Amino acid sequence: MCGIVGYVGEREALPIILESLKRIEYRGYDSCGVFVLLEDGNPKLHKDAGTIDHLKKNLSESEYRGNVAIGHTRWATHGEPSKRNAHPHLDGKGEIAVVHNGIIENYQHIKEELLNQGYEFVSETDTEVIPHLINLSLKKFNWQLKEAVREALARLKGSYAIIVAEKGFEGLVAARNESPLIIGVGDRENFIASDVPAVLEQTNRVIYLEEGDLAVVKKDSIYIENGGVEVRREERLIPWTIEDAEKGGYEHFMLKEIHEEPRAIMDTLRGYLAEDRINLGFELEGNAKGKSILMVACGTSYYATLCGKQIIENLARVPVQVELASEFNYSDFVLDGTNIIAMAITQSGETADTLMALKKAKRYGSKTVAITNVLGSSATRIADETIYTGAGPEIGVAATKSFVAQLVIFYLLGLSLAKMPESEFRGYLEELRGMPKIAQIVLDEEDTNIQRHARYLSKYEHAFFVGRGVNLPIALEGALKLKEISYIHAEGYAAGELKHGPFALLTEDTPVVAILTRQPLGKFDQQPFKKSLIKNATQASQNIYEKTLGNVKEIKARGSPVIAIAEEGDEEVEKYVDAVIRVPETSTIFSPIPNTVALHLLAYWTAKERGCEIDKPRNLAKSVTVE
Ligand code: F6R
Repeated sequence: MCGIVGYVGEREALPIILESLKRIEYRGYDSCGVFVLLEDGNPKLHKDAGTIDHLKKNLSESEYRGNVAIGHTRWATHGEPSKRNAHPHLDGKGEIAVVHNGIIENYQHIKEELLNQGYEFVSETDTEVIPHLINLSLKKFNWQLKEAVREALARLKGSYAIIVAEKGFEGLVAARNESPLIIGVGDRENFIASDVPAVLEQTNRVIYLEEGDLAVVKKDSIYIENGGVEVRREERLIPWTIEDAEKGGYEHFMLKEIHEEPRAIMDTLRGYLAEDRINLGFELEGNAKGKSILMVACGTSYYATLCGKQIIENLARVPVQVELASEFNYSDFVLDGTNIIAMAITQSGETADTLMALKKAKRYGSKTVAITNVLGSSATRIADETIYTGAGPEIGVAATKSFVAQLVIFYLLGLSLAKMPESEFRGYLEELRGMPKIAQIVLDEEDTNIQRHARYLSKYEHAFFVGRGVNLPIALEGALKLKEISYIHAEGYAAGELKHGPFALLTEDTPVVAILTRQPLGKFDQQPFKKSLIKNATQASQNIYEKTLGNVKEIKARGSPVIAIAEEGDEEVEKYVDAVIRVPETSTIFSPIPNTVALHLLAYWTAKERGCEIDKPRNLAKSVTVE
């Protein structure tokens, strides 16, 4: 949600700033801007509505030569997306420039105060109060920028990550409170950014600023203080490479990231699985004894978590409660927090609602665990323990590979907590280890078929996705993915629920995507390790399959076209549906993996067919750092 970057060093700053902004454009892309301290000592600002590419077109780079600069790419909160509201924002003299990610909650009050003192405002943003406040404090502190910024920040309520540049100051001042900010450490140069991919091309040495940190970054020094006292922050080596954060020949990040799903599964497994032992890096079993699990998340991570609930409850028989973080934050906490392990599931580790929920659970005495994809992200610093998904950097705004990596963590959690005979446990692990291959089969064998179905789906304006059991959350995820990138109105439903209302919407113009995978009868019989569960599990999955097929027949009777996701070899299904996407056979509990890969491809190709801006869907941004 807004990306900010800064550079100070010996090289030309502007190309580095533009490149860095481009790499984190997923954080917002409705307007952008840069501020450069020129070689002659004068500052120069350029900003506009639209994307970085658009900004570059009207920017004569040779007029912006200088070694210190800041930049911003915006996702509007206060004030429409426009040149006027784009960052950087300046003080009245145009000498102090600020880029900001977050929301200043008390800006209106401060603005009125500043207006009364004669300050003039040119934008509708909350951010503009910051350069004016700094200007106000500069005189008091004998023109010392660090002190002036510190005093200005003391007036602010809300969330912020800011970078400040000032005419005549050979460095940058940065600060954070509830919004992410990192410093990339270079050789006679340093970088500041909201997110690691912004600096990866330059360095993989990174310092994560903490809540309340204020930093003065110069080309050969980094000073950090908190509460006015100097602090030391550890420098970390980021394992991601620049290739990880590039498109690698794919047209869109999203397609590349879908194709990385097998690797995301493998790398996540690799982190925690040695031989036949799962080691999550902390003592889960002892901590979980006699407790239930509370999971909080938003969006796609929430759907993964709904699936995780079923996986863990099925494997380990431990009760799991799943809450939307944004709702949990304002609901009564009626449980005894000390009897709960609270887990926050967040790809970015920076989603504001999820972080608040994590803090709330902590306040109530729960042991807390962050499940995240980003090393050193805010969630990792709040939680007692962290489990990393090994998806690598995810740039496409629509989450894909992080979703399957989160599922893998749920399998590992479920199996870690499960009490089952060793042979059964090994059987599950064996099937889990085979999941990268299963995901790869969908990519290799069904992509062309899915493209054909996507062409068909792309002609419609409404669609339903249905599933049952462990595949209901996958139907919800399929619908979310389709709507956010193709703008087709899509709803995910429990297959049995359509007849309780949504049936009224079914016509020949409302296609339904039905997840119809099943555990074929007899498969369990070939796997002695599951003998204890054979009867129940086989019965249950067969029932789910038959019931869903029954629902599909009801849907067909209302005239809606049906696309089924079904297993290889299931010929029965063809009699009832209009099209079939094939996925390899798996046990029911693992079927969400191939089904997800298929639905991610379907959403991608449908959006592509409709000519949508796939990596930058309208009105969205990755990493939602505001409530
Ligand atoms: C949708 C999507 C979002 C995120 C949500 C939570 O494709 O990406 O719904 O899943 O904003 O983000 P994280 O997982 O970073 O907390």
